[in-house]
Amino acid sequence: MLAFFFSFIIALAAAYPNRGACTGNCWTKDPAVIKRASDGKYFRFGTGTGVPIITSDSIKGPWSEVGKALPNGSKINVNGVDSTNIWAPDVHLSGDTYYMYYVLSKLGTQNSEIGVATSKTLAPGSWTDHGSVGIPANSNYNRIDPNWIQIDGKQYLNFGSFWGDIYQVQLDGPLKVGSNTPHQIAYNETLNHREEGAFMYQHGNFYYLFFSSGIAGGYTKTYPPTGAEYHISVCRSSGGSGGFVDKEGKDCLKTGGTVVLASHGQVFGPGGQGVLTDKDLGPVLYYHYYPLATKQAGGSADGVNSNYKFSWNQLTFKDGWPVVSA
Ligand SMILES: *[C@@H]1O[C@H](CO)[C@@H](O)[C@H](O)[C@H]1NC(C)=O
Ligand SMILES: *[C@@H]1O[C@H](CO)[C@@H](O)[C@H](O)[C@H]1NC(C)=O
Repeated sequence: MLAFFFSFIIALAAAYPNRGACTGNCWTKDPAVIKRASDGKYFRFGTGTGVPIITSDSIKGPWSEVGKALPNGSKINVNGVDSTNIWAPDVHLSGDTYYMYYVLSKLGTQNSEIGVATSKTLAPGSWTDHGSVGIPANSNYNRIDPNWIQIDGKQYLNFGSFWGDIYQVQLDGPLKVGSNTPHQIAYNETLNHREEGAFMYQHGNFYYLFFSSGIAGGYTKTYPPTGAEYHISVCRSSGGSGGFVDKEGKDCLKTGGTVVLASHGQVFGPGGQGVLTDKDLGPVLYYHYYPLATKQAGGSADGVNSNYKFSWNQLTFKDGWPVVSA
């Protein structure tokens, strides 16, 4: 029985392939990766002062920082927050313009705002800030972790973290939500509702809602308890605006969610993910993780951004559900 138990644990541990290679500047938190349409160069953005821009000719690197998207900060004023301290960028191309949704927030509070900036080239010096997209404040949700998606020709932002977890709001245009009202699309009913970092990806007949569950940081030697740390889960829906269920058919408004990637090897607490459609690799799940060795060395109780690293895995769809592959 014990032997069976241990082989079961080993089978679980072996379930994830190795993380994809990364060389050069691999430090990141809440990454957004996009390939520039004009030349195929990879651009990686992330949480950090002025939103660092890190580029590479390959997803494997070598990556190097070339500047900041918003070196002078955002025009949004969130009380008590330095306007260059920008979180969780989400970048896409629409027509000939790149849009970056971003966050200003006071950690652990609902004192947050989502803003948007635009660029024609993704390069440093090319970004124009447009300020807040105008999602109304509401005690049911936190206005962080934006993610843009187009569904049947209409544009939406997914967003949210803890409180009521993941919400979605239709945009009137790329820069403003207008009078549209957000609605909830995923919710974990337990504890303090640890879901955030939504990323929606269309594949086949479904919209896949990836999100980060669990405790995002404060990774010291002994905290958090095993299994409570960040991990990446997914739900799907055919319409993209509701009706999300997990692989077992469990309603994702009622704690549903199928785990796609959890801690393994040096990859502790993977999250802050996105999905890139790569010409050569197909769909790629990219994410940040906390190196296990850093945690074992004592880690950091205050979520120091420079302790998180970038990695990725190809995604394959088996029976309509995404699975990480080597
Ligand atoms: C940032 O501010 C400096 C000083 O005001 C200015 O010279 C520079 O052009 C600004 N940069 C951007 C990207 O707006
Ligand atoms: C919901 O939260 C609990 C912890 O409160 C966690 O064990 C569970 O995995 C979460 N469910 C999902 C789908 O993330």
